[in-house]
Amino acid sequence: MTVPLSQPFSIPGMLPDADAESAWIEVIRKMDETYANLVAQQVELERKNAELEEAQAFIASVLGSMTDVLIACDRDGRIEQTNRAAERALGCTGAELTGRPLRDFLASSSHAAFARLCAAALQREGGSDVELSLRCPTGPFPVAVNSTVRYDQRGHAIGLVLVGRPVGELRRAYRDLAAAHEGLKQTQQQLVHSEKMASLGRLVAGVAHELNNPISFVYGNAHAMRRYVDRLTAYLDAVHGGTADGDLTALRKELRIDRARADVGATLDGMLEGTERVRDIVAELRRFSSEQKHASERFDLTALLRSAVTWVAKAQMPDLVVAFDLPDALDIAGHPGHLHQVAMNLVQNAIDAMAGAAVKRLELHGREEAGRVVVTIRDTGHGIPGTILERVFDPFFTTKPVGKGTGLGLSISYQLVKDHGGSLSAGNHPDGGALFTLALPAAGHKEGAAR
Ligand SMILES: Nc1ncnc2c1ncn2[C@@H]1O[C@H](COP(=O)(O)OP(=O)(O)O)[C@@H](O)[C@H]1O
Ligand SMILES: [Mg+2]
Repeated sequence: MTVPLSQPFSIPGMLPDADAESAWIEVIRKMDETYANLVAQQVELERKNAELEEAQAFIASVLGSMTDVLIACDRDGRIEQTNRAAERALGCTGAELTGRPLRDFLASSSHAAFARLCAAALQREGGSDVELSLRCPTGPFPVAVNSTVRYDQRGHAIGLVLVGRPVGELRRAYRDLAAAHEGLKQTQQQLVHSEKMASLGRLVAGVAHELNNPISFVYGNAHAMRRYVDRLTAYLDAVHGGTADGDLTALRKELRIDRARADVGATLDGMLEGTERVRDIVAELRRFSSEQKHASERFDLTALLRSAVTWVAKAQMPDLVVAFDLPDALDIAGHPGHLHQVAMNLVQNAIDAMAGAAVKRLELHGREEAGRVVVTIRDTGHGIPGTILERVFDPFFTTKPVGKGTGLGLSISYQLVKDHGGSLSAGNHPDGGALFTLALPAAGHKEGAAR
């Protein structure tokens, strides 16, 4: 309320003089000012109230939508506030719960645990995963509780906040997690199995390809032998049948007996050579493919590498050029079967990487230095991008399409080489293509050799 200053203000019984009037004017101005301040404060208060209500509504909606039970207690364990989940579980309204000791709503088996939580809160310590059993109208309601200490503005501990997750729900979550884990383990086992099958498939394809040559050779020679034998038998029958000399000469010419006689030795030699080759391949196969759980043995890595390259590469990439720069022998100790698997994995990866390459070349260098045998295998494929170089040895890491790669070849190889006291590293050649380096203790340098 303001009084217009233009009207003279008079108090009955007092004569207006100039001083009194200006004093009044001052009083009125002050009142005016105070009133304006009050109005401003009122507006501010209303704004703050609105904000407060909004914040309260937000907090209430958050508390209301929580599925976990939330109970705030004072230092003595009396309930101060609850959320809807807690009220539902306890079968009471918030008003009915407020001020009551929480202990009254706990099964007697949980009293000690709750007392410990309250005592810990006084020491400013929270608690996690404490199981409390709430007494609910429907029966005991076990919850896994996390408790935190509540502080006032001056930092004094004034109570504790309990958040409880129904244990049934937790158990279900654990069960789901365990089932998912089990599923994952099975998938991994299947992948490991399919990697084994793929290795086996490669081995079989390579060996079949290798055997094909000598076997066709032996087969061809056996056919030739069959013909020679037929002709020689016919001739011998004629000799023993008393055929006249002139006729015998003609028959000898007709049956090309001289040619057959001359060829028989070489044909048999060829067959022997072929069967020896078959015998060697089978011996190699037995040596390199058996599980070999027994103690390690000494063997030649050069022969092993040549065999691995031949078996994997020849069948799959006939136009591959292989450059061996290996000493006649590289003596190492360990399990030849395991290292053959490593070599086959490396060669297979190189072949995969060179699938679309214009130049298909595999270079193997080997040397022995300072008690170690170091072999590098370089291909002319697409190389390994720097971004994945760190990950190629990770189990299940693959850039190949589903069904083509399992991502296990290198991780298994890494472990096998490590078991031999060696190392396997991946990189790129400066002129392109991947470069793998395999280092193993030379035979006689036993430290760290395969168990
Ligand atoms: N010689 C190589 N050239 C290019 N990339 C390679 C080579 N060797 C391995 N890699 C990369 O490493 C990944 C993992 O190899 P590996 O463990 O053998 O699994 P997989 O061959 O099943 O993919 C391959 O998917 C590929 O991306
Ligand atoms: Mg591989």
